[in-house]
Amino acid sequence: MKARPIRCLISAGPTREYFDPVRYVSNPSTGKMGYALAEAAIEAGWEVDLVSGPVSLPAPEGACVHSVMTGAEMFESIGKLFGECDILIMTAALIDFRPRSKAAHKVKKDVLDMVVDMEPVVDVLATMGKLKTTQFIVGFAAETNDVEVYARRKLETKNADYIVANQIGVEGSGFGSDDNEIILLGRDGSRRVMGPASKRALGTDLVAQFQVELDTHLSLK
Ligand code: CTP
Repeated sequence: MKARPIRCLISAGPTREYFDPVRYVSNPSTGKMGYALAEAAIEAGWEVDLVSGPVSLPAPEGACVHSVMTGAEMFESIGKLFGECDILIMTAALIDFRPRSKAAHKVKKDVLDMVVDMEPVVDVLATMGKLKTTQFIVGFAAETNDVEVYARRKLETKNADYIVANQIGVEGSGFGSDDNEIILLGRDGSRRVMGPASKRALGTDLVAQFQVELDTHLSLK
Protein backbone atom coordinates (compact mmCIF):
# COMPACT_ATOMS: atom_id res chain seq x y z
CA MET A 1 0.00 0.00 0.00
CA LYS A 2 1.33 3.44 -0.93
CA ALA A 3 1.98 5.66 2.12
CA ARG A 4 -0.02 8.90 2.22
CA PRO A 5 1.93 12.13 1.70
CA ILE A 6 3.29 13.95 4.74
CA ARG A 7 1.09 16.91 5.67
CA CYS A 8 3.27 19.89 6.39
CA LEU A 9 2.33 23.26 7.84
CA ILE A 10 4.89 26.05 7.36
CA SER A 11 4.74 29.64 8.57
CA ALA A 12 6.84 32.30 6.89
CA GLY A 13 7.57 35.99 6.72
CA PRO A 14 7.02 38.82 9.17
CA THR A 15 3.82 39.92 10.82
CA ARG A 16 2.64 43.52 10.99
CA GLU A 17 0.91 45.15 13.93
CA TYR A 18 -0.83 48.40 13.01
CA PHE A 19 -1.47 51.34 15.31
CA ASP A 20 -3.39 53.29 12.67
CA PRO A 21 -4.45 52.35 9.11
CA VAL A 22 -1.09 53.31 7.58
CA ARG A 23 1.50 52.75 10.33
CA TYR A 24 2.72 49.52 11.83
CA VAL A 25 5.56 47.78 13.67
CA SER A 26 7.24 44.85 11.93
CA ASN A 27 10.70 43.41 11.16
CA PRO A 28 12.83 42.89 8.03
CA SER A 29 11.96 39.20 7.47
CA THR A 30 11.49 38.50 3.74
CA GLY A 31 10.09 34.97 4.07
CA LYS A 32 12.85 33.44 1.93
CA MET A 33 13.69 30.56 4.32
CA GLY A 34 10.04 29.54 4.75
CA TYR A 35 9.31 29.71 1.03
CA ALA A 36 12.49 27.72 0.25
CA LEU A 37 11.37 25.06 2.74
CA ALA A 38 7.90 24.98 1.19
CA GLU A 39 9.42 24.43 -2.28
CA ALA A 40 11.70 21.68 -0.97
CA ALA A 41 8.80 19.98 0.84
CA ILE A 42 6.65 20.01 -2.33
CA GLU A 43 9.57 18.58 -4.29
CA ALA A 44 9.74 15.76 -1.71
CA GLY A 45 6.06 14.99 -2.36
CA TRP A 46 4.68 16.54 0.84
CA GLU A 47 1.36 18.38 1.01
CA VAL A 48 2.13 21.94 2.04
CA ASP A 49 0.01 24.58 3.74
CA LEU A 50 1.98 27.83 3.85
CA VAL A 51 0.76 30.48 6.29
CA SER A 52 2.49 33.62 5.14
CA GLY A 53 2.85 37.13 6.44
CA PRO A 54 3.27 39.98 3.93
CA VAL A 55 6.19 39.15 1.58
CA SER A 56 6.96 39.84 -2.06
CA LEU A 57 7.73 36.28 -3.12
CA PRO A 58 5.75 34.22 -5.64
CA ALA A 59 3.61 31.46 -4.14
CA PRO A 60 5.45 28.13 -4.37
CA GLU A 61 3.72 26.05 -7.04
CA GLY A 62 1.62 23.35 -5.41
CA ALA A 63 1.43 24.97 -1.96
CA CYS A 64 -1.84 26.07 -0.42
CA VAL A 65 -1.03 29.62 0.67
CA HIS A 66 -2.92 31.31 3.51
CA SER A 67 -2.09 35.03 3.62
CA VAL A 68 -2.15 36.75 7.00
CA MET A 69 -1.04 40.11 8.32
CA THR A 70 -1.01 40.11 12.12
CA GLY A 71 0.12 37.68 14.80
CA ALA A 72 -3.50 37.06 15.79
CA GLU A 73 -4.36 36.13 12.19
CA MET A 74 -1.34 33.81 12.00
CA PHE A 75 -2.40 32.17 15.27
CA GLU A 76 -5.95 31.65 13.98
CA SER A 77 -4.83 30.21 10.64
CA ILE A 78 -2.26 27.85 12.18
CA GLY A 79 -4.69 26.85 14.93
CA LYS A 80 -7.21 25.71 12.31
CA LEU A 81 -4.66 23.67 10.32
CA PHE A 82 -2.53 22.25 13.14
CA GLY A 83 -4.77 19.31 14.03
CA GLU A 84 -4.40 17.79 10.55
CA CYS A 85 -0.66 18.27 10.06
CA ASP A 86 2.20 15.84 10.66
CA ILE A 87 4.84 18.53 10.97
CA LEU A 88 4.73 22.24 11.82
CA ILE A 89 7.72 24.35 10.78
CA MET A 90 7.61 27.87 12.21
CA THR A 91 10.02 30.05 10.23
CA ALA A 92 7.82 33.13 10.67
CA ALA A 93 9.33 36.14 12.42
CA LEU A 94 6.33 37.26 14.42
CA ILE A 95 6.40 40.65 16.08
CA ASP A 96 6.21 39.90 19.80
CA PHE A 97 4.25 43.01 20.80
CA ARG A 98 1.36 44.88 19.27
CA PRO A 99 -0.11 48.31 19.88
CA ARG A 100 -2.83 48.02 22.50
CA SER A 101 -5.23 49.91 20.25
CA LYS A 102 -5.55 50.83 16.58
CA ALA A 103 -6.90 54.20 15.53
CA ALA A 104 -9.71 54.07 12.94
CA HIS A 105 -8.21 56.98 10.99
CA LYS A 106 -4.68 58.10 10.21
CA VAL A 107 -3.40 59.94 13.26
CA LYS A 108 -2.09 63.41 12.41
CA LYS A 109 1.53 63.86 13.35
CA ASP A 110 0.95 66.84 15.60
CA VAL A 111 -1.15 64.65 17.92
CA LEU A 112 0.72 61.38 17.33
CA ASP A 113 1.94 60.04 20.63
CA MET A 114 5.68 59.32 20.52
CA VAL A 115 5.16 56.41 22.85
CA VAL A 116 2.94 53.58 21.62
CA ASP A 117 1.38 51.48 24.35
CA MET A 118 2.06 47.80 23.53
CA GLU A 119 0.78 44.41 24.68
CA PRO A 120 2.19 40.90 24.04
CA VAL A 121 1.21 38.85 20.98
CA VAL A 122 0.38 35.19 21.52
CA ASP A 123 3.32 32.79 21.10
CA VAL A 124 2.04 30.51 18.33
CA LEU A 125 4.83 27.93 18.57
CA ALA A 126 4.64 27.62 22.36
CA THR A 127 0.86 27.25 22.18
CA MET A 128 1.06 24.52 19.51
CA GLY A 129 3.82 22.92 21.60
CA LYS A 130 1.30 22.60 24.44
CA LEU A 131 -1.47 21.31 22.16
CA LYS A 132 0.59 18.79 20.22
CA THR A 133 -0.38 15.14 20.22
CA THR A 134 1.45 13.35 17.40
CA GLN A 135 2.72 16.40 15.51
CA PHE A 136 6.41 16.97 14.99
CA ILE A 137 7.34 20.59 15.69
CA VAL A 138 10.25 22.63 14.37
CA GLY A 139 10.96 26.20 15.47
CA PHE A 140 13.49 28.75 14.34
CA ALA A 141 15.53 30.96 16.66
CA ALA A 142 16.84 34.21 15.29
CA GLU A 143 19.55 35.51 17.62
CA THR A 144 22.26 38.14 17.45
CA ASN A 145 24.34 36.61 20.29
CA ASP A 146 24.63 33.48 22.45
CA VAL A 147 22.79 31.75 19.62
CA GLU A 148 22.93 28.17 20.88
CA VAL A 149 22.18 28.98 24.51
CA TYR A 150 19.00 30.86 23.61
CA ALA A 151 18.04 28.35 20.91
CA ARG A 152 18.34 25.39 23.32
CA ARG A 153 16.19 27.28 25.82
CA LYS A 154 13.52 27.70 23.11
CA LEU A 155 13.56 23.92 22.48
CA GLU A 156 12.39 23.47 26.06
CA THR A 157 10.10 26.46 26.55
CA LYS A 158 8.27 25.88 23.27
CA ASN A 159 8.23 22.06 23.52
CA ALA A 160 9.74 21.72 20.02
CA ASP A 161 11.41 18.64 18.56
CA TYR A 162 13.96 20.75 16.72
CA ILE A 163 15.09 24.36 16.77
CA VAL A 164 16.94 25.79 13.80
CA ALA A 165 19.33 28.35 15.26
CA ASN A 166 20.14 31.26 13.06
CA GLN A 167 22.55 34.12 13.71
CA ILE A 168 21.17 37.43 12.53
CA GLY A 169 23.01 40.70 12.11
CA VAL A 170 25.95 39.14 10.22
CA GLU A 171 26.54 39.48 6.49
CA GLY A 172 25.55 36.51 4.28
CA SER A 173 23.08 35.04 6.77
CA GLY A 174 19.66 35.70 8.28
CA PHE A 175 17.02 38.25 7.27
CA GLY A 176 16.83 39.01 3.55
CA SER A 177 19.89 37.02 2.56
CA ASP A 178 19.72 34.29 -0.13
CA ASP A 179 22.15 32.21 1.91
CA ASN A 180 22.18 31.04 5.46
CA GLU A 181 24.25 29.18 8.01
CA ILE A 182 22.22 27.34 10.61
CA ILE A 183 22.61 24.95 13.50
CA LEU A 184 19.97 22.27 13.81
CA LEU A 185 19.46 21.45 17.49
CA GLY A 186 17.45 18.36 18.43
CA ARG A 187 15.48 17.57 21.54
CA ASP A 188 17.70 14.49 21.95
CA GLY A 189 20.77 16.74 22.29
CA SER A 190 21.82 16.40 18.63
CA ARG A 191 23.64 19.27 16.94
CA ARG A 192 24.28 19.70 13.23
CA VAL A 193 25.88 22.72 11.55
CA MET A 194 24.45 23.28 8.07
CA GLY A 195 25.80 25.70 5.47
CA PRO A 196 26.75 28.30 4.60
CA ALA A 197 24.55 27.41 1.65
CA SER A 198 21.60 28.82 -0.26
CA LYS A 199 18.33 28.82 1.67
CA ARG A 200 16.92 26.57 -1.06
CA ALA A 201 19.71 23.97 -0.59
CA LEU A 202 19.29 24.14 3.18
CA GLY A 203 15.55 23.63 2.70
CA THR A 204 16.21 20.42 0.77
CA ASP A 205 18.62 19.16 3.46
CA LEU A 206 16.21 19.98 6.29
CA VAL A 207 13.29 18.29 4.55
CA ALA A 208 15.43 15.16 3.98
CA GLN A 209 16.35 15.07 7.68
CA PHE A 210 12.74 15.59 8.82
CA GLN A 211 11.55 12.92 6.37
CA VAL A 212 13.74 10.32 8.13
CA GLU A 213 12.40 11.42 11.54
CA LEU A 214 8.80 11.41 10.33
CA ASP A 215 9.09 7.95 8.79
CA THR A 216 9.99 6.61 12.24
CA HIS A 217 7.58 8.92 14.09
CA LEU A 218 4.56 8.12 11.87
CA SER A 219 5.21 4.38 11.81
CA LEU A 220 4.90 4.45 15.61
CA LYS A 221 1.50 6.21 15.53
N1 CTP B 1 7.24 32.49 17.53
C1 CTP B 1 5.87 32.29 17.60
N2 CTP B 1 5.05 33.26 18.12
C2 CTP B 1 5.59 34.42 18.56
C3 CTP B 1 6.99 34.64 18.49
C4 CTP B 1 7.79 33.66 17.97
O1 CTP B 1 5.39 31.22 17.19
N3 CTP B 1 4.77 35.35 19.05
C5 CTP B 1 8.08 31.40 16.99
C6 CTP B 1 8.89 31.78 15.76
O2 CTP B 1 8.18 31.49 14.56
C7 CTP B 1 10.13 30.88 15.91
C8 CTP B 1 10.29 30.75 17.42
O3 CTP B 1 9.02 31.07 17.99
O4 CTP B 1 9.91 29.60 15.38
C9 CTP B 1 11.35 31.63 18.02
O5 CTP B 1 11.12 32.96 17.61
P1 CTP B 1 12.15 34.10 18.04
O6 CTP B 1 11.69 35.39 17.43
O7 CTP B 1 13.57 33.66 17.79
O8 CTP B 1 12.00 34.12 19.61
P2 CTP B 1 10.91 34.68 20.59
O9 CTP B 1 10.10 33.55 21.11
O10 CTP B 1 10.14 35.78 19.93
O11 CTP B 1 11.79 35.22 21.81
P3 CTP B 1 12.89 36.41 21.83
O12 CTP B 1 12.35 37.49 20.90
O13 CTP B 1 12.91 36.81 23.26
O14 CTP B 1 14.18 35.82 21.34
